[in-house]
Amino acid sequence: MKNVIIILGVIAIIFFIAINYPPPQEVPMINLDESIKIYIVADPHYMSEKLTEESETFKNYLGTVDRLMHYTGLLLDIVEKDIKENKPDIVVFPGDLTNNGSKVNHQEFEKRLRKIKASGTKVYVVPGNHDIGNEKALYFKDNEVKLTDYVTKDEFVKIYQDYGYKDAVSRDENSLSYLVKPYQNLWFLMLDTTKEYPKPGGYLNRDTLDWIVSCGEMAKEENAEIIVVMHHNLLDHSDIVWEDYTVDNNTSVINAFFESDIQMVLSGHIHIQDIKSTTSSVTGQTIYDIATSSLPVFPHQYGQLIYSPSKGYTYETIKLDVENYALENNLRDENLLSFDTYAEEFFIENLCRKHRKSISVMDLTPEEKEKVYYTVSEMNKKYFSGYRNEELQELMDTEGFKIIQSLDECFIQEYVMGMIEDEIANNNILHIPFDN
Ligand SMILES: [Fe+2]
Repeated sequence: MKNVIIILGVIAIIFFIAINYPPPQEVPMINLDESIKIYIVADPHYMSEKLTEESETFKNYLGTVDRLMHYTGLLLDIVEKDIKENKPDIVVFPGDLTNNGSKVNHQEFEKRLRKIKASGTKVYVVPGNHDIGNEKALYFKDNEVKLTDYVTKDEFVKIYQDYGYKDAVSRDENSLSYLVKPYQNLWFLMLDTTKEYPKPGGYLNRDTLDWIVSCGEMAKEENAEIIVVMHHNLLDHSDIVWEDYTVDNNTSVINAFFESDIQMVLSGHIHIQDIKSTTSSVTGQTIYDIATSSLPVFPHQYGQLIYSPSKGYTYETIKLDVENYALENNLRDENLLSFDTYAEEFFIENLCRKHRKSISVMDLTPEEKEKVYYTVSEMNKKYFSGYRNEELQELMDTEGFKIIQSLDECFIQEYVMGMIEDEIANNNILHIPFDN
């Protein structure tokens, strides 16, 4: 009898160890003839339905933001459906996961990530400036705006421990940045770039830059490629709008990346679709910074990056088909059934409002003002969607553009010329071949 008890005890101990301490899984290698698929979902700004209501106050709030705040959950539902069907290997979220960092929003967003992970996709997140220490964590009740709990840095790490932090092979002591190695030859350096939460600016201090270089050295020793994911932009994506979008000390950050042989950066924050690159005059190395546009902002898309050790990188954007999703799921919401028109109108109303205001005080006839406004809002649509090519250039033939050209120096002229003078490109696609 005593022996039976001892044997049962040993079995119980073995069972306990097996459950709590599973053997370390072998880190896979991406072979030369293989490729992996990464999705980039930027700035989803998720807002729980628990924090909203049908009220005048909430409606007024919607009029002040650039994003479809009341559909953030639905847009994520569509991305989640796509992930289930197309099975990317990895999904990265470069920050601004939630609307104003409310605890409820984070908790519900985490539940969504849990579902994605359960479908076999690895998920990595970094915080954006909205996500932490945000005293403007709002909710709407009884036709009033109220404040709700926000999360601290420690709480953020705790909530998202299964989406990078627990798997990190190295963590920066000065920020919430970390390094993960999902493949022996492809690592992800997830950078926490906010200078002072929840202010919008970005910065990486000297100690963090040293840590980045040490990660780069490790990667060189192990012949691994590093992809950087960060909320703020590494490079200026606009000549007009860059302050508080590009990391303040980007020259030092670029140098640390060159030193670490990093060539691919995935960022968000600016909410427009744009790709820029910089090449070292000394070594000839090039770094690409792909800013994927925010999911709840027109044109409502996310990024897909294919990496192959032999062929290089191929990036493209995937636009959500909301109308089709609404039809398939028998949704009755008219805004969703005619989403393309609704989203365009929301964009023009909310994002072109300040332009309309500037145009309204110009010394022009009402007809001329309408023509100018048409040109500016059409250009804005193309610009936010990443088109700096003929799709944007063809609007130079409009009467509105000719009027803008003939104006004295003003904000509208500077804004329009800034769009036109940007690098001619379609920022929705990029292929970077490797010379092997
Ligand atoms: Fe954002």
